[in-house]
Amino acid sequence: MTSKTKKNNQKYSSMQEIGKDVLGKLKTSLKKEDRAPEETKIERIQPEDFKLEHTTVWNFQKRGDWATHKGDFRGNWAPQIPRNLLLRYSKVGDTVLDPMVGSGTTLIEAKVTGRNGIGLDVDPSALLVSLSRLDFDVSDDDIPESSQKVFIGDARNMDLVENESIDLGLIHPPQPDYIGNVNGRNSADLSFVSSFDEYCKEMKEVAKEMFRTIKPGKYCSILIGDTRRHKHYVPISHRIMQNFLDVGFTLKENVIKRQWNCSQSGFWARRSKRDNFLLISHKNLFVFRKPDPEEDIAKLENSMKWW
Ligand SMILES: C[S@@+](CC[C@H](N)C(=O)[O-])C[C@H]1O[C@@H](n2cnc3c(N)ncnc32)[C@H](O)[C@@H]1O
Repeated sequence: MTSKTKKNNQKYSSMQEIGKDVLGKLKTSLKKEDRAPEETKIERIQPEDFKLEHTTVWNFQKRGDWATHKGDFRGNWAPQIPRNLLLRYSKVGDTVLDPMVGSGTTLIEAKVTGRNGIGLDVDPSALLVSLSRLDFDVSDDDIPESSQKVFIGDARNMDLVENESIDLGLIHPPQPDYIGNVNGRNSADLSFVSSFDEYCKEMKEVAKEMFRTIKPGKYCSILIGDTRRHKHYVPISHRIMQNFLDVGFTLKENVIKRQWNCSQSGFWARRSKRDNFLLISHKNLFVFRKPDPEEDIAKLENSMKWW
């Protein structure tokens, strides 16, 4: 890290590892529904009939429920998403970083595919869920052993992650839906910023950290949705994409991820009919690549920062 970056990052808290030793003590403080099964007797460690996605539209109507995955953590992503990204953009033994790890979906997938995982979150209760769900054995000779480490910290300052040490970064930030509705809350949680501008500015700090830590030629992906204000579309995801291009990434893919939480009835369905707007039922999954200084990037000019 350069001294300028170090200075800039001092305003965000440093990373601190949460070891397995604290798990036993803290497990009891978790809500029952957040705990992984007490006996880690797992019926299925792998998905059945898993097929790698091959188009730019992904649609997982049924969330995967293998290993210790559960769909009950607020805003968790379907395990099919990290699985696709891990298989396509990393290999066995690689190191994967999820700086907003939540309930640990990415690290569970890293563990059952033989990748080493580093997870970070500002919310200690999310990390306990993660640790608890990572507390299972992979009793399959075909899956190489891996290490899964969990840290409390801020994605805008990953001071314990070395420069260019990460093979794949996977990011699933909090949705900006609540922005502006929680004015005055002072928290490192990026859902509590007071404006879209601030959200984008802070996410740019995350983009810089991802660029610093990812190895040249390797990938970083982010899943992010848009929202609506005053019956108009707010294209947050495209602003975030520009942030990632701005710090130096190239755009490898833009996947449309179908969302299944839009009901045909209920409050928003009625509103959308009354006020003539469409219900947002997708998110964008961008895949970026950090160029290698050795490569000729001039030919990629149309997939890079254009302004
Ligand atoms: C959408 S959730 C991630 C869910 C995760 N993919 C899963 O499957 O459980 C977003 C997470 O980002 C965390 N978060 C918010 N602001 C953060 C920050 N500045 N640094 C690190 N984590 C942050 C939240 O605490 C939350 O757990």
